This record gives sequence, C-alpha cells and structure tokens, in this order.
Amino acid sequence: MSALLTDSTLSLLAHGYAWAPDLRRAHGGAPVVRTHLFGHPAALLHGPGAVAFFYAEGHVRRHGALPGPVVDVIFGKGAVHTLDGPPHRVRKELFTSLLMSPGAVGDLTRSVGSGWNDAVTAWEGRRVVLFDEVAAVLTEAVCDWVGLPVPEDAAREIAEDCVAMVDGFAAAGPRQLRARRARRRQERALAAAVVDLRGSGPHPDGIFSPALHASAAGSPLEAVAFHRGQDGALLDPHTAAVELLNLIRPTVAVAWPAVFAAHALHRHPGRRDQLRSEGPGSAAARAFAHEVRRFYPFVPFIGGLAARDLGFAGDELPAGTLLLLDVYGHHHDPELWERPYHFDPGRFLGREPGRDDLIPQGGGDARTGHRCPGEDITVSVLAALAPALAGLDFAVPPQDLSIALNVMPTRPRSGFVLEGAHRPGNHRPLRLRPRP
Ligand code: HEM
Repeated sequence: MSALLTDSTLSLLAHGYAWAPDLRRAHGGAPVVRTHLFGHPAALLHGPGAVAFFYAEGHVRRHGALPGPVVDVIFGKGAVHTLDGPPHRVRKELFTSLLMSPGAVGDLTRSVGSGWNDAVTAWEGRRVVLFDEVAAVLTEAVCDWVGLPVPEDAAREIAEDCVAMVDGFAAAGPRQLRARRARRRQERALAAAVVDLRGSGPHPDGIFSPALHASAAGSPLEAVAFHRGQDGALLDPHTAAVELLNLIRPTVAVAWPAVFAAHALHRHPGRRDQLRSEGPGSAAARAFAHEVRRFYPFVPFIGGLAARDLGFAGDELPAGTLLLLDVYGHHHDPELWERPYHFDPGRFLGREPGRDDLIPQGGGDARTGHRCPGEDITVSVLAALAPALAGLDFAVPPQDLSIALNVMPTRPRSGFVLEGAHRPGNHRPLRLRPRP
C-alpha cells in the first residue's frame, strides 16, 4: 500500500487522543501497529514491554524525530529534548541537578502555595477562570524560583505566552502563529537576562534588570547562564533562553492537570473530605495527583526514531522508523488497569506507581534517559493544590466542562469557571511544612 494511503497524519489531527487507541483496536489490539505519520514510516508501540523497549539504551534517538516546526514551538531549537548521547547526558545533568532534589521540589511547591493563598484572597466576590488563575500563580512562583522575580501583571503576560506555546504546538493557523510570537518574545527576554547576568549587559531587550544580579545568585538562572556543555563552552544566549523556558513553560503547564483536578473534584465531590482532612502532600493527596495524571489526557504519545534496525514483539523496526509510545492508550488499557475509565485515586493509595506503570511524563530513568525531570515537582504541586481546592467553598456556574478528545492538548472547554470562592470558617490557608 502506498505511504499516502496509510498516512495517519490527518486521522491523528481529526481524532487526537483517540487516534492511537482506535488504530490499535482496528488491528486487534496488537502491541505494534505500523503506519505512516508526517509522510514517514511509523510504528505505534503499546504496553509495559514497549515502555522498557522504547527507553532501553541505544534504541531511540530524538534528534529529527518530530517535525522541526513542532519542536521549535513547544521545546525550542536545540533543547535538551532533541539531544542524544553524551551532549544529552551533560545537558540533562543540569536539569536533574536543578529539579530533582527534595529542596528544589519543596521550594517551588511552597512558592506555589503562597501564591495560591494570595490568589484565593483576591478571588473573593469574583468570578474567575481557574485555568488562567492557576497559570498566573505557577508563573509567578516559577519565575521567582528561577531567579527572575516578576510583578503580577508581567507574570500574567508570561503565563499567557507559555500557555500559547503549549496550546499551539500541534495546531495550524492562528494558534500556531500565536505560539511562535509568544516563543520569540520570551526567548528574547530570557536571552537578554542571560547576557546581562554574564556581565556584558545591560542588554536593550532586558526586562529584568537592575535587580537581576541580586535575585540570580545561586539560582537556576545562574546555573543555566553559566552551564558548560559537553564541548566545555557556555551555551549561546539563545539556547540558554530555550532551556530557561524549559523550566518555566512546563511548570506553567501544570495548570492543565490542576484544572483536571478541579474537574475530578467537581465530578466526585465525595473525594473532597479526605483531601481536606489529610491535607497537602499527604498520601491521599499524592494518590489523587497520580490518578489525575493517569485518567486525564495530556500527552498522547512520545516519539523518537529507531536508532538502528530493531525488533519488538516479532515485528521488524528498521533504523529511522518513527516510534510512537502510546501514552494515553497505556493509561486506559483494561489489561493494565482495573476499570480504567473509572476515576479512582484509591488505586495509588499507599503505593507509588512502578517506574514504567504510570508514564504521563515518560518512562525509564529520568537521570539517564529523556523521562521528565520535573515529574516530582508536578506531583508535589498537584498534591498541594488538590487539597487546597478541596478546602475551598465556591460555586460552579453553568458552563461547558466537556473535554474534547480531538483537541491536543485538551482541557475543560470553559477553563473551569468558579465564583464566590472563600475559605470556610474553620479552614486554614495552605501551609506547607518547611524543608527539614
Ligand atoms: C504538566 C506537567 C508535565 C508533563 C505532562 C510533562 C511531560 C513530559 C514528557 C512527556 C516529557 C518527554 C519524555 C520523553 O521524551 O521521554 C518531558 C520531558 C521534559 N520535561 Fe516535563 N512534563 C511536565 C512538567 C514538567 C516540569 C514542571 C518541568 C520543569 C520544571 C519539566 C521539564 C521537562 C524537561 C526539561 C524535559 C526534557 C527531558 C529530556 O529530554 O531529557 N516538565 N516532560
């Protein structure tokens, strides 16, 4: 059959998250389904064996795996996501050292918690779109943590740009253009901050000076600005800006699962009491965070190219085949999860998921492979925000809370509008234990 006839690109764009599970169903639930995507031979891989296979050393390379325009919008040119081998290892160490310590996770979570408390106070008597509000809280917190404190109005603009980049990466037309403009704007500002900090500024595009040097001491901004790659050289200011944005943008993207958490609490109000009583960071809150990440659609699949001729489940996968690891289908496979379409945090209560069981942020080892280094932060922030939401009283006016599966990335269409939010009399503001 010609590549044109089997090319799935239009079907993927039309069906979004349902594309991979539908394709597998049409092939009798096979662990490997061959197709074409973006005019390229491709194979959809599914199941726990596929996760181990995809993340095995030397199986998959990332450079050139996704179309350039997609990569440029979501990750940025030259980002860690697109590196392989030793250059990836050295760049990845920068991210794991910044993101994966209990100190970093705690600091960022606390910063989100205090922003949340201020925001809730400001919502009193107002009708707000939770998605926009959480995105602004996350932006202010992460900019502060990175070493680039910004006032609230600037945080809202940066939040809008980060949301545009995530929203527009798989879109054509105006959403894609908006995403590109947003990326250019933020990259320019962050590159200027790097130039400033390296001592050659102030730069005409700099928006963060003059407090920059003081706030940057010992910060992630400083670590990125003075990071040396495998060749021993500093990153050029544009690449440094891309990687700073790879700290800021995905943290803002936690607004997606945060709003899914609100959606889940709205659909299952019985879950609120346990979260309220056990509080932020509790076992119940972490189980809830994991179930939100399993149940709701965010990343449809993860892609890479076969680094050499490979074989999986009896199928040959020639070098250069685009390999797609089925993430959404993995989380909704009845062979892997009991009642997968049932939202049940109890399945994670008292146990952390196995490394390759829950893969919304990739599989394998985050320190050596491409798995997301921000996963602990994501879980910690969600495990703080879900009980905080459960502890608020508010009304949910009539709105469209449907979640379209053919839009990637998706979220409740209304963004979750709430009004009259207030803390009930006996509820304390969100307080997170200080770092030991
Ligand atoms: C909504 C929450 C998040 C989701 C769903 C998510 C998802 C992912 C996924 C699917 C990958 C690719 C895994 C692979 O290619 O094998 C990834 C990589 C990455 N994520 Fe996240 N992420 C989230 C939050 C974060 C946060 C909070 C940060 C940083 C503060 C972060 C930073 C990164 C970086 C730097 C990479 C590239 C890793 C590499 O290529 O080695 N992410 N993430």
